[in-house]
Amino acid sequence: ICPLGENAFAQTYPIKPITLVVPFSASGPTDTVAHLIAGPMGKDLGQEIHIENIAGDGGTIGTLRVARAAPDGYVILINHIGMATAPALYKKLPYDPLKDFEYIGQAVDVPMVLLGRKNLPPNNLKELESYIKSNKTHVTIANAGQGAVSQLCGLLFMSREGVELTSIPYHGTAPALTDLLGGQVDLLCDQTTQVGPYIQKNLVKAYGVTTPARLSSLPNIPTLQEQGLKGFEIEAWIGLYAPKGTPTAVIAKLNKALRSALNNPAVKTRLAESNIEIAPMSKVTPASLKQHLESEINRWGPIIRNAGAYAE
Ligand code: MLT
Repeated sequence: ICPLGENAFAQTYPIKPITLVVPFSASGPTDTVAHLIAGPMGKDLGQEIHIENIAGDGGTIGTLRVARAAPDGYVILINHIGMATAPALYKKLPYDPLKDFEYIGQAVDVPMVLLGRKNLPPNNLKELESYIKSNKTHVTIANAGQGAVSQLCGLLFMSREGVELTSIPYHGTAPALTDLLGGQVDLLCDQTTQVGPYIQKNLVKAYGVTTPARLSSLPNIPTLQEQGLKGFEIEAWIGLYAPKGTPTAVIAKLNKALRSALNNPAVKTRLAESNIEIAPMSKVTPASLKQHLESEINRWGPIIRNAGAYAE
């Protein structure tokens, strides 16, 4: 990394701007969280953090790019639960989430909502279930590709309901939401990060939240669980990663910057508005992120395999 060794390298790090890769499209939920924390993180580090959107294949293209980047702390990744589910969703995933990365820290937990286009006839989950049964595969559901959390949520919904919907993949849920608002697709399961205002203005229908309890920001939307989908629970937890081999002292600086961003009052307020929970500081550590990732890989692997979803 540096002729004088890792310690000397880490002491002066960072001496130039850092790239934070968002593996989904601009203005979507992951990108929004990335933009919120990048400013305060950069301030703490004394260098700017530039965001690069490398979208496609449910976040796996951007994630691979970071796995293959130089391990010098200048290219890092923000990704969600897809880090844990991609190994089960892809027969040949070109990276290993447990071997090809260093872990900077867990950041936030993001609730999700099952949405329908404004003029979709059903007004609640029960009506949606009958509507789907009579319209079968003609009902479309948007997602951000195989590996995206919207895809996982849709997959769980189809498997629980015993129905097959027609999936329409996008590079992120920002363009998927645009099409839902335009009436080009019927359904989308998306993170609260970007959907609250559209629900409040009745521009989309909200059939249920994916958390065990209702959300204070959307108190009128019932949970999917209280409407009969027992155990239907999914949240898009988000963490930050660096390529394998990034020096420990560099990871420590990035971790300190992440903590400082998560403690920033403006960041806290914006996240709270969307019911996004900041991870307890005891969990914003490299070890905790790795442990959480491991347990999520073990949790979701069998669920995904039982639902029978693979990509090549
Ligand atoms: C995004 O930022 O577009 C989302 O996180 C996509 C998703 O995983 O559903």
